[in-house]
Amino acid sequence: MKKVLVTGGCGYIGSHTIVDLIDHGFEVISVDSLVNADERPLAGIEKITGQAVYNYRVDLCDYEATRQIFLDHPDLMGIVHFAALKAVGESVEQPLRYFRNNLNSLLNLLDLATEHGVDNFIFSSSCSVYGNARELPVTEANDFQEAESPYARTKQMGEQMIRDVGRAFPQLRSILLRYFNPAGAHPSALIGESPVNPALNLVPVITETAIGRRTKLTVFGDDYGTRDGSCIRDYIHVMDLANAHTKALQYLAAGQSEEACEVYNLGIGEGVTVLEAIEAFEKVTGQSLNYEIGPRRPGDVVAIYSNYQRAAERLAWAPARGIEDIMQTAWEWEKRRSAPASVS
Ligand code: NAD
Ligand code: WQD
Repeated sequence: MKKVLVTGGCGYIGSHTIVDLIDHGFEVISVDSLVNADERPLAGIEKITGQAVYNYRVDLCDYEATRQIFLDHPDLMGIVHFAALKAVGESVEQPLRYFRNNLNSLLNLLDLATEHGVDNFIFSSSCSVYGNARELPVTEANDFQEAESPYARTKQMGEQMIRDVGRAFPQLRSILLRYFNPAGAHPSALIGESPVNPALNLVPVITETAIGRRTKLTVFGDDYGTRDGSCIRDYIHVMDLANAHTKALQYLAAGQSEEACEVYNLGIGEGVTVLEAIEAFEKVTGQSLNYEIGPRRPGDVVAIYSNYQRAAERLAWAPARGIEDIMQTAWEWEKRRSAPASVS
């Protein structure tokens, strides 16, 4: 059995990845402090996969408590590190909390991984490392621009820390996965995204508006130089994203990596405007969404989308789902979590 430590396993992307890992024969141990989650996704994971996953309720900034996990599981073959604080606006207000949480947790994990010989390390990075990208689509060769927030800075710094540690400990093989805009839910609707209120990302704002948790959606600007004036993003289905982690671990385990630290973009390689996303939601659900055009949101980039060819070529990964699948599964999840005796 290939045993993997998933950090942030009760969170949105972590819980979906655990399902995909189990589906591909991995045994999973989770560690999540529950700072931004609860343990209900574990019940969903068990229903979907038939396997119970144990979660250590431990803050990864606590070195001794984290070390105990490594002592309990001397047979770990890898770590998939999702745990982080991720609210961009909050990170501007609380930079020290973001640096402390996101960087100390990573430091402890790298320290323990090298000490305990856990050689395969996958890191959740973000397209936010590119800042206001100058060339589209974005390839991994694009330079980092100035980080737009302390959150984005923690991803830039986290990537650099992993690279440097890998130079000193060549047995450590790492993969940095730069996600574009993750959205959607598992098709069973047993797990999905449960944003802390109020949701800020477009897809949960759409579904929360449609279900009546909020009265309307504001489109942040329709006067950009894009095909319909609204911003362009690359929305990637969370199950496609989840599968990339499995593929990355399999690739490392098979000794296929060419460099000690490799980096991959994960998106669908196409831009979707905000108005197109709304149209896709209305089409697949038959609901008409209450929205209005509002002012631009400060800090928004006009357009960003990925080139994911490297992941296609080396990891044999490709996204199988598009914006309509995202809207369909996000909507099924919203209906389920908003129902009486809800699962979220
Ligand atoms: P999430 O908040 O749902 O999951 C993160 C989990 O980590 C939470 O359950 C939280 O309780 C846990 N956690 C945070 N700090 C911890 C600590 N010190 N110790 C133990 N547990 C801790 O977020 P998500 O959307 O699943 O994101 C997962 C990762 O992907 C994060 O690193 C995030 O920065 C990155 N990412 C997310 C997006 C996105 O839009 N969702 C985009 C790009 C990158
Ligand atoms: C998408 C588009 C908005 C809400 C963020 C982080 C980034 C990464 C992914 C972690 C934009 C528009 C949104 C609304 C709207 N996360 N919008 N009305 O800003 O691309 O990226 O999540 O690494 O770092 O910054 O995602 O979902 O907030 O916005 O018009 O009520 O939807 O203007 O064009 P974003 P988002």
